[in-house]
Amino acid sequence: MVGRSARPDQTNGHEPFRTETATDRVPAAMLPSIISVCNFKGGAGKSTIAVNLACALHRATGKAGVLVDADRQATAATWAKAGLLPVKTVTRLLHEAKPEERYPGMLWVTHIKGLAASNPFVVIDLPPGLQYSIAAVTTVSDLIVIPVNPSGIDFHSTSGFIALIQKSRELRRSDRPACVIVPNRLDRRTTIAHKLSLYEQFGEPIAPAIGMRTAFAYAFDHGQWVGDYAPGSAAHREIDRLAQLVLDGACDTGG
Ligand SMILES: Nc1ncnc2c1ncn2[C@@H]1O[C@H](COP(=O)(O)OP(=O)(O)OP(=O)(O)O)[C@@H](O)[C@H]1O
Ligand SMILES: [Mg+2]
Repeated sequence: MVGRSARPDQTNGHEPFRTETATDRVPAAMLPSIISVCNFKGGAGKSTIAVNLACALHRATGKAGVLVDADRQATAATWAKAGLLPVKTVTRLLHEAKPEERYPGMLWVTHIKGLAASNPFVVIDLPPGLQYSIAAVTTVSDLIVIPVNPSGIDFHSTSGFIALIQKSRELRRSDRPACVIVPNRLDRRTTIAHKLSLYEQFGEPIAPAIGMRTAFAYAFDHGQWVGDYAPGSAAHREIDRLAQLVLDGACDTGG
């Protein structure tokens, strides 16, 4: 859950430089229709990445995507409350299913497919800890963005999730869902490169890391995404880089 933080000073320590962002580049035609931001682990940065990625994709493509809050904690919906996000936000909760349910989350899948049919892209902020309903996510998604803690603490839960994604591809007889691992909250004072390399064994794409950036928390406080709250900041550039990776099809498994 994103926490509230004190109002920062005017610059927040962000340098007022301007560099190339995804918005400046020609968008690729590869935009996946349904992008889920998900991991079993709580607090990995799902909501932060979902909200900012949705906005960055919108800015980069000019397409009016929709951000879906699927988590009853309502972090994305709260972020959007001030009406300052450039994307439309809707709530479609995915609840944990009971083990005996035959098709967990099926109604939710129908809702998401409906949104995808009437919007250029859908970015979904998922709750932590899904177990029986996770199949709904792997079934409906074109791309799953998996934020992980670079310390490696999420490694075992991520490993289980990636095995499910790979199984889902077999069942769907498809290269979908694609996935990308996104190391988040990288603190450059600690050397954890060897921990990150753990994730390479999955054979799935790993995005450049997103740093530990206070701009994300402040952007939440102000109801904005980082591209509006701190344009040109490191946080903005990192999110734009992730958006560009998605647009370039660099997360595809090659089918
Ligand atoms: N790159 C980052 N730099 C600094 N703080 C971050 C970063 N990413 C996330 N945070 C902070 O970490 C906390 C958890 O983030 P967030 O709510 O996005 O995680 P989550 O995975 O959605 O959590 P939950 O599992 O509860 O839904 C928040 O306080 C958020 O501001
Ligand atoms: Mg969340």
